[in-house]
Amino acid sequence: MKVLVTGGSGFIGSHVVDKLRDKGVKVRIYDGIMPTYRDDIEYYQGSILDMAALGFAMSGIDVVMHLVAVADVKDVLADPHYSEAINVRGTINVLEAARNSKVRRVIYGSTTWVYSEAESDNVDETTPLHAPSHFYTATKLAGEYYCQSYSKLYDLDVTILRYGIPYGPRARDGAVIPIFVKKALNGETLTIAGDGFQFRKFVYVEDLAEGNVLALQSIAKNKIYNLDGSERITIKEIAETIQKIVGDVKIEYVQGRPGDFSGKEVSSDLAEGELKWSPKVNFEEGVRRYIVWCKKREERRRSDWEQIDKELKR
Ligand SMILES: NC(=O)c1ccc[n+]([C@@H]2O[C@H](COP(=O)([O-])OP(=O)(O)OC[C@H]3O[C@@H](n4cnc5c(N)ncnc54)[C@H](O)[C@@H]3O)[C@@H](O)[C@H]2O)c1
Repeated sequence: MKVLVTGGSGFIGSHVVDKLRDKGVKVRIYDGIMPTYRDDIEYYQGSILDMAALGFAMSGIDVVMHLVAVADVKDVLADPHYSEAINVRGTINVLEAARNSKVRRVIYGSTTWVYSEAESDNVDETTPLHAPSHFYTATKLAGEYYCQSYSKLYDLDVTILRYGIPYGPRARDGAVIPIFVKKALNGETLTIAGDGFQFRKFVYVEDLAEGNVLALQSIAKNKIYNLDGSERITIKEIAETIQKIVGDVKIEYVQGRPGDFSGKEVSSDLAEGELKWSPKVNFEEGVRRYIVWCKKREERRRSDWEQIDKELKR
């Protein structure tokens, strides 16, 4: 069996590639940029908007895991028009190329943000959805709907995975955990606005990747699964966990609103029951692995620069 991972050079996609390879699955990456985390994976460079290149990349492929997107909500906000092209048209392109290439299944990386406007605070895959206020969520939801239409109209099996907020090695620098870790490693104070009791659930990225692999099981055909973390983590706990691991880090509380975040409680029971998926890496361990990765990245950057400097001096 061979899997094409679109977005396999990205944060989540690169971990999906690792997990697939660990399980002995053959993998090909389709991405606009080259994978930098390993060099033993077949790689096709191309845009998600290039139908011909996509079709070419799907030859000999059984399952497509579609993870290309403009995934940073700030980027979506800055350029909704471009984001629509990549997230929405890009997804139809993948579905159409998969249909033409007789791919057996498309697994689509969506988000638990689709529940943002749900009436209930406790949500699962049967919860009725309402028009989202964020444009990013609208594009991801459009992608979900296209997957479902293709499944019904063209007999193309699909699986939709709604990811919670991922963290871990290779994460984008702009999210709360990377920002705090960077400050802590630079000896800066971690500043919390308010009492720090605002909470989020985070899911460790390798757990998410494992969920993608488990979704290959035939029980997942034409189903939707939430893959969310199991622990509620407050901002205070994020800061204290980093302080515990890095050591000698100051935490400062400045005036702000008290913890008033009313996030949704997203159930991953269906994934647990049917796919036998559950998050394995607890928050402290996940942050520890992320910090180890950050330090190695810093060392690598430093030694690369030393090497470049040495060569230029010659
Ligand atoms: N990171 C999150 O917080 C999060 C949360 C829930 C769901 N998701 C979803 O998971 C998926 C992966 O997200 P991520 O965080 O790994 O994103 P990422 O930005 O790290 O990876 C996306 C990849 O897509 C590639 N790409 C972007 N535009 C392209 C184009 N036009 N043609 C070809 N390749 C292109 C990029 O090069 C990158 O490697 C996305 O579908 C995203 O919507 C992400």
